[in-house]
Amino acid sequence: MGEPLGDFKRTYYCGHLRPEHIGQEVTLMGWVNRRRDLGGLVFIDLRDREGIVQVVFNPTFSPEAHEKASALRSEYVIAIQGKVVARPDGTENPDLKTGRLEVQAKELKILSESNPPPFPVDEDGEVAENLRLKYRYLDLRRPKMQRNLLLRDRAARSVRDYLHSQGFVEIETPFLTKSTPEGARDYLVPSRVNPGTFYALPQSPQLFKQLLMISGFDRYFQVVKCFRDEDLRADRQPEFTQIDIEMSFVDREGIFQTMEGMMKAIFRDTLGQELATPFPRLTYEDSIAWYGVDNPDIRFGLEMTDVSRALRKTDFKAFSDPLQRGGMVKALKIKGDLSRRELDDLNEFVKGLGAKGLAWVRVGPEGWPAISGPVAKFFSEEERGALRQSLEPAPGDILLFMADSAKVVNDAMGRLRLHLGKRLNLIPEGTFQFVWITDFPLLEYDEAEGRFMAKHHPFTSPLDEDLPFLSSAPEKVRAKAYDLVLNGSEVGGGSLRIYRREVQSLLFEKLGISPAEAKEKFGFLLEALEFGAPPHGGIAFGFDRLVMILAGAESIRDVIAFPKTQKATDLLTDAPSAVDSRQLAELSLRGIRRK
Ligand code: AMO
Ligand code: AMP
Repeated sequence: MGEPLGDFKRTYYCGHLRPEHIGQEVTLMGWVNRRRDLGGLVFIDLRDREGIVQVVFNPTFSPEAHEKASALRSEYVIAIQGKVVARPDGTENPDLKTGRLEVQAKELKILSESNPPPFPVDEDGEVAENLRLKYRYLDLRRPKMQRNLLLRDRAARSVRDYLHSQGFVEIETPFLTKSTPEGARDYLVPSRVNPGTFYALPQSPQLFKQLLMISGFDRYFQVVKCFRDEDLRADRQPEFTQIDIEMSFVDREGIFQTMEGMMKAIFRDTLGQELATPFPRLTYEDSIAWYGVDNPDIRFGLEMTDVSRALRKTDFKAFSDPLQRGGMVKALKIKGDLSRRELDDLNEFVKGLGAKGLAWVRVGPEGWPAISGPVAKFFSEEERGALRQSLEPAPGDILLFMADSAKVVNDAMGRLRLHLGKRLNLIPEGTFQFVWITDFPLLEYDEAEGRFMAKHHPFTSPLDEDLPFLSSAPEKVRAKAYDLVLNGSEVGGGSLRIYRREVQSLLFEKLGISPAEAKEKFGFLLEALEFGAPPHGGIAFGFDRLVMILAGAESIRDVIAFPKTQKATDLLTDAPSAVDSRQLAELSLRGIRRK
């Protein structure tokens, strides 16, 4: 048989050929993207990861190669040798980077045949996602997926280059470890050697990176897999990648600056875009007040206004009932013209989100206080005066009102705002708008658990000025925690950490974690805090989410080589799957002892 390639050595990637190569003899290898038989000539679009080039088989040039070429089919793997020539006038293809040239084949080797692919590989057309995932290796040949994964690689390289240039050290941390609380369920791995015990896969390297600061590494990073067993959405995967970062001897401002520099580098290296820094900052409180959410898309305005005070004496029961129960009324002012029908649709839209309804008034051409709409009659003269002050309505504006508990209003109005942003074309395409959200609450009351939980994670430092309230009013305590939000998506989150043992113990106490439990779960951290812990803090970015936005993809599955479905399965390998009883026995998975 001999070696399949014989004396062929690839000289160029198909996609790298340019007019300056005209006249050269080249050797190319790749996949048959398309074959066309035209009046005795055979044309092949030959594809590799860098692009496509046209190869011509001409019987007068090489009868033997031409003869073999007629056997070629889509996705065959071939090697050719031939000469780069200019395409005849009028046959250039301006859509291809190689469109001004073609290769006249002298020799052809068929390296591998292919079954007809289950979907076209040579284009980005719609294909059912289950089919794409089952044949992922073919899906990954498609131009869009090739672009996405190459972009991902470029972004990862940019991150590493930038962080190394800033004195960061990449250090690996274990996957077989102990539970790290990030608010999701753990994936557990049974230990064979220690029957009946389990490792947890890390939800993040949080504790290890803090220990590395205590060890003196000062600036750590890792591009690292994290594992979280949670309900999946379009922007979540059970295993995903973080750019995980920790720094010693810095304040929040220092972290923000370093991270803004990293984002600048990524956007420059992947999209060739210059980002303006510093990024805007917004406190959690303001973010909720203006946008209803802690991940606001600030590419457009449409901020909401709390009009509870203006309407505190209202007779309209839909407003007065929630207000009496401690709820709120918020308003959105829209400039676009919506028909009555469309306003009814918005009413249904918010009901679908758990709100009770959406009231609206339209400002007449003569201007405020002339308003119309089914609830206009409920607004007294005094209320119209107060609303004019807070909303400054102009002729033709439509005001939307929602009354309910603060949670329902913020949630539903937040989503309504995004919906209207799209509906009214307020969101500029192709722009990137970062914003830091700061001063998150430290704790959050969990109704189901009946206790306070850490909003970020339990190693986050309270704001110094709020520390005194930790016992008296825990819900009021703000944290040195921040998220980075890009176009309405949370791409990163972090905090300055607790580095004093007594504060950490106090926080565990507030979280209802007993000293015994704290010792069992985090004893190693508490002890480490007694051996010279520097002030430190950090952040982790959701790398998949970031690349998704850079690529303009709809789902993080489109920027992950081998992702899981919404049901956390892998359709390619068929994981998870049953294992045989011998394996279970070896792992002592029968009759496991419980705590
Ligand atoms: P956090 O839990 O906020 O912080 O995670 C950081 C970022 O990771 C991304 N992310 C996810 N991406 C895809 N699929 C998921 N299931 C998923 N979950 C989270 C988000 C998020 O902003 N240890 C802390 C960081 C720190 O304090 O330094 C942490 O993990 O973009
Ligand atoms: P009703 O008086 O119940 O017919 O309601 C009149 C209008 O007020 C309808 O458009 C309802 O959708 C709207 N509405 C009802 N409840 C609320 C609420 N909690 N907040 C805002 N609008 C509401």
